[in-house]
Amino acid sequence: MSNERGNWGSSVGFVLAAAGSAIGLGNLWKFPYLAGKNGGGAFVIVYLSLVVILGFSLMLGEMAIGRRGKSDAYGSYNNIKKGWGFVGMMGILCCFVIYSYYVVIAGWIVKYIGLFLSGGLNGDPVDYFSTFISSGTTPIVYSIIMVVATALIVLKGVSGGIEKASKIMMPTLFIFMLVIVVRSVTLPNAMDGIKYFLKPDFSLITPKVIIAALGQVFFSLSLGMGAMITYGSYLSPETKLVKSAFCIPVLDTIIALLAGLAILPAVFSFGLEPTAGPGLIFITLPKVFSAMPFGNVFGVIFFVLVLFAALTSTISLLEVVVSFVVDQFKLDRKKATVLVSALIALLVIPNSNSFGSMAELKVFFGMNFFDFLCYLTDNILLPAGGLLLCVFVGFVWDKEDLKNEVTNHGEVKFEMFSLWIVGVKYLGIQLLSLILLQAVGVQDEFLVYALGTIFAVQILCGRLEAKRGVKAV
Ligand code: PHE
Repeated sequence: MSNERGNWGSSVGFVLAAAGSAIGLGNLWKFPYLAGKNGGGAFVIVYLSLVVILGFSLMLGEMAIGRRGKSDAYGSYNNIKKGWGFVGMMGILCCFVIYSYYVVIAGWIVKYIGLFLSGGLNGDPVDYFSTFISSGTTPIVYSIIMVVATALIVLKGVSGGIEKASKIMMPTLFIFMLVIVVRSVTLPNAMDGIKYFLKPDFSLITPKVIIAALGQVFFSLSLGMGAMITYGSYLSPETKLVKSAFCIPVLDTIIALLAGLAILPAVFSFGLEPTAGPGLIFITLPKVFSAMPFGNVFGVIFFVLVLFAALTSTISLLEVVVSFVVDQFKLDRKKATVLVSALIALLVIPNSNSFGSMAELKVFFGMNFFDFLCYLTDNILLPAGGLLLCVFVGFVWDKEDLKNEVTNHGEVKFEMFSLWIVGVKYLGIQLLSLILLQAVGVQDEFLVYALGTIFAVQILCGRLEAKRGVKAV
């Protein structure tokens, strides 16, 4: 059975593919601009702390669910505990939706590679960017190129497609990244940017910054939507989960930090503003490249590296949905891939047009189509998926069974097992409830009461578990 579903060829292959899923536009496009907007180093510190507290724990939880459940995200939850498949289902829906808008931004990257290959930008980058993204068919075509490229890799299966592609793209990405970082930090006045990025001003840490960082941890590590469950389901029983769950957040964080070091010093060096938001890599950076010697070469290197990061992420977004269709509807992988990709291609149209003809069509709770989908995934589906994941790992999954899965039946030492469970059970649930309550509009003064009530329920459930004879962990 597991062979029919596919398997990773090696642990390194798995780590590269999972790191490929994690490392993406979240690291290269979103992280630097979030840091730029939310007070530089202050944001970075909060982000790092949350990766340590939650990133590793939830990564391990998801991988364990996948390997134990041996199915897609829906099937894995259900195989461990009947009735919990809906959590996986939410994750699959979330990946589908994210894929449909993620690929729009990824398409812009393809366009920018073409731009730098053909001699770079002359003229105003703001005009260039806004004319391009609002020009109807052209950006749609670029996004469809990404949909097709992703499908061609996923078609070839887990080890023959995803793993092989990740083994080529991830090391290349890393080397290209180093080239750009070295170029950026050796520019005149680069130190100002480095300082801005790394020097924390603690007065800037507000609840809003914490919530933004928490959402970013989830998005960047591909957590809370079944991606790591799906990838974990192709793991062999011998793989050491704890080690892999540790490596992936570390790699992801290194790349996010390098992305900041690649972008912010260069931006400062040319006297530009780091707070441009989503336009940072499409507007501010092209200005930097056009002002620097051999800027077009660096432009190509930079955008190819972003492309590889995006592609290894779109692969995992597609794979989550394809594996669901294959496992639950017994469709073969080729048909499933074509079917899902065709649906995505249709959704690309309103997503892409949200930057053009549909920009002002704010009929989705006051937002346009693209913004609405981002809001839905970032603020509702992701934190809800993460919260239910914590509830599942902390309270629902039988502890003995969970421990056996994580330690390969006692072969791998994991002394922090109890600490891990307590962290997920109490801290994880509290933090995720916080984002979710905030996102659904609960006012600040009620937040404390709501979290207090949740805490009381957590304690009560802990007591009940103890009564049922579940070993106090
Ligand atoms: N983690 C990816 C990024 O940082 C995005 C992603 C989310 C990929 C969910 C897969 C699943 O860009």
